[in-house]
This record gives sequence, C-alpha cells and structure tokens, in this order.
Amino acid sequence: MRVVLGVGGGIAAYKAAEVARLAIQNGMSVQCVMTAGAREFVQPLTFATLTGQKVITDLFSSQSPEATLASAVEHIGVAQENDVLLVAPATANVLARFAHGIADDFLSTLYLAFTGPVVLAPAMNNNMWAHPATQANVATLRSRGHRFVEPGEGFLACGTTGPGRLAEPAQIVEALLEVQRVRQDWQGETVLVTAGPTQEPIDPVRFLSNRSSGRMGYALAQAAAQRGAKVVLISGPVALHAPAGVERIAVRTAEEMRAAVLARLAEASVVIQCAAVADYRVAQPSERKIKKSDAAFTLAMEPTPDILAELGRIKGHRLLVGFAAETGDLEKEALRKLESKNCDVMVGNLVGEGMGFDSGENEVLLMFRGGEVVNLPRASKTVIAAQILDRLAPLRAAHPAYGR
Ligand code: PMT
Repeated sequence: MRVVLGVGGGIAAYKAAEVARLAIQNGMSVQCVMTAGAREFVQPLTFATLTGQKVITDLFSSQSPEATLASAVEHIGVAQENDVLLVAPATANVLARFAHGIADDFLSTLYLAFTGPVVLAPAMNNNMWAHPATQANVATLRSRGHRFVEPGEGFLACGTTGPGRLAEPAQIVEALLEVQRVRQDWQGETVLVTAGPTQEPIDPVRFLSNRSSGRMGYALAQAAAQRGAKVVLISGPVALHAPAGVERIAVRTAEEMRAAVLARLAEASVVIQCAAVADYRVAQPSERKIKKSDAAFTLAMEPTPDILAELGRIKGHRLLVGFAAETGDLEKEALRKLESKNCDVMVGNLVGEGMGFDSGENEVLLMFRGGEVVNLPRASKTVIAAQILDRLAPLRAAHPAYGR
C-alpha cells in the first residue's frame, strides 16, 4: 500500500520518523510531505533517508519556471499515486485547514485533491485539543469518514498533562493496516506469480543463473495478497522471506518452475510471469564435479522450455502478464514478446547496471494487447507493483474474457 505521510508542525514531528519506519517494515511505501512548521522541528533529510523517496515541502518551486510548473501540479500526481493519506502529527492548524478546505500549502492542497482514505493522528496541547473550535473541526472531519487515531493522555511537551500526545507509532500503523484490510479490490482472484532466477546445473556444485533478486515478483505477490487475492508464488532461489498470506513454492530449475506453474494453473485467474527464467541449460550436466585443467572448455547447451509461451497457448480466459527484460529497444522487443507469447500485458523492463535486476527500484513500460502503452516512471518496486495491479484491475472488469 502506498502511503502519503503528511507531517505537521509540532514537537511530535520527530515521532513521525518512527511511523514511517514501521509502515515500511509492514510492506508499505511512504512518501513524506512536510509543512513549513514541521521543518522547524525535523529535517526533511531524516524522512528522505528513511523512506528512500524525495520529501515534498513546497507547493511552488523557486528553482526555475519549469520546476515551478511541474511542482504546481505535483499535488495532483501525489494524490493519484497513493492509496492513503496519513497526517501525523495532525496539528490544530492542519485540522482546521482540512475542515475548512483552505488550500495554502502542499499538504492542504493535496488533501483537497486526494480521494482515498484519510487517517489523522492529532497531537497538540490538551487545551487546544479540548477547545470547541478544534472539536468542531474534528467532528466535521469525522463526518467525512476520516479515521482518527486518538491522541493519548500524559505529560505534554508544553509542561501540562492531559489528552494531546501523539498516539504511539505502532497504533498509527495499525490504523493503516486496518485501511489496508478494507481495501480488497483483488478479492476473488487467484494470482500465480513467478519470481527470482532459475539455476541450471553444470555439475553438482556449479550452476548457470542470473542476477534476479526476486524483489519485483515478491512485491507483486505481496501487493496482490494485501489487496485480497489468493496468491501462489513460485520462486527461484532468492534471499527473501515469503510475504504474509502468500503460499510459496520453491523451485530451482526452469523445468521445475514449469512443472510447478502447470500444476497450479487450473486454479489461477491471473498469471504474472516475472521470473528471470534461464533461456538455456547445460545439455548434459556432469554427475561429478568437473575437474580443472589447462585446456579450453566448452559446454553444450540446449534451450529450456519457454514457460510463458506455453502458458500463452493454454491460458484460456486467464489474464496472462509477462515481463520482457531488455537492454535495447524496449518498446519494440516487449511488443514482439507480447504477441509471440500471446500475453494480455507485457511489462517491458530496461535492465542493466543498477536497473531492473537486483535493485530496490524499477521503471517499466506496460504494453497492453489493445495497443495501449503506459510508462511507470522510476519508483520503488513496492510502488511499481501497486501501480501494475492498479492497471490490471480495470482490465479484468472491462473485458469479461479476461480473468475469472
Ligand atoms: O528479481 P529482481 O531483481 O527484482 O528483477 C526483476 C526482473 C528484472 C527480473 C523482472 O522485472 C523481469 O524483467 N523479469 C523477466 C526476466 C526475463 O526473463 O525476461 P525475458 O525477456 O528473457 O523473458 C520474457 C518472458 O518470458 C518473461 O516473462 C520470462 O519469465 C519468460 N520466460 C523466459 C524464458 C523461459 N524459458 N521461460 C519463460 O517463461
């Protein structure tokens, strides 16, 4: 789930860093927006370092007219790209501006443009919290369906005691998890995801493989499970934990992956073939460790089974999504693979040094069978996975031949 974390200008702003950290630990991506007040208490660098994403601080950029133009509409992009808006700490001022629709900085403007669920974690002096003006604003915001994580009681930074302390970070993240549980737009689907590399043996101790870490496929599996799908993850050897709620089947070779995919195909409504399957294997792996010698050495290779192409022939009404890892003409090659492997969607992935493989981030081109092409710009694999699922969801609904 993609979270925009708005940080208001109060002493509790420092606790928002822990909220961001915990949300990320729970598989969410976090984009921070800081008010001018928040920046008096905590440096944007703290959040940028924790989240790995740029922290948004201003509605208008002062750098150049082009940057100003881009930043003037950035709140719309941020509103569209995220699933939930959390404000922690939500100060009395933030609550008042939200309640009255005053849009005079990035956070308050984003609030008006945002159509998803809103979670507010207030923190302020106890008298400010109890004031009828604040309570009226809280009532207005509640009436819009926004969720409040109630402030706790205790010793406040201003020296008084009473209700007004920011709730504990774990409670705030629990509210996010609750939102996530409610957002189940993939319920009813069974998604087969493949991930990671395959290893093709040369002898008992050596193999041929590639640099796939499994992160992209695992992010897709996690996102689909969080959104209500039953997920079967068929994974080559990787150093990742299975995401919660996902059934993982470990395989090693392309042949094993093919067998596992075919064994579970009947129950799948969507197949996402993200694995970096080896194209070739050693024709006759040695049963014993091959001895070193000074002579040149050649391995006879043969093609592995093309799992995706086979799925394309037998997919029926299932939605079939392939990945195309390319170092050259991405659009041309991804389109060729979309057609030759009879997929519904091909995810074109430029790969190379620091790109695609074994990186926390990705940038992909979605190519649809109907001819539509959508670029998903560089973002964490969690965000890219969520965006891919966003794009696949309406496709299933719009074309009854797809899915179910
Ligand atoms: O794992 P990460 O480090 O996160 O990296 C992610 C990724 C770069 C591996 C991933 O995003 C990606 O691009 N996966 C596809 C890699 C690949 O094998 O691409 P390809 O263009 O060689 O193959 C095209 C499609 O055919 C793929 O869906 C592949 O799974 C499939 N294929 C290929 C060969 C084969 N024998 N059987 C197959 O099913």
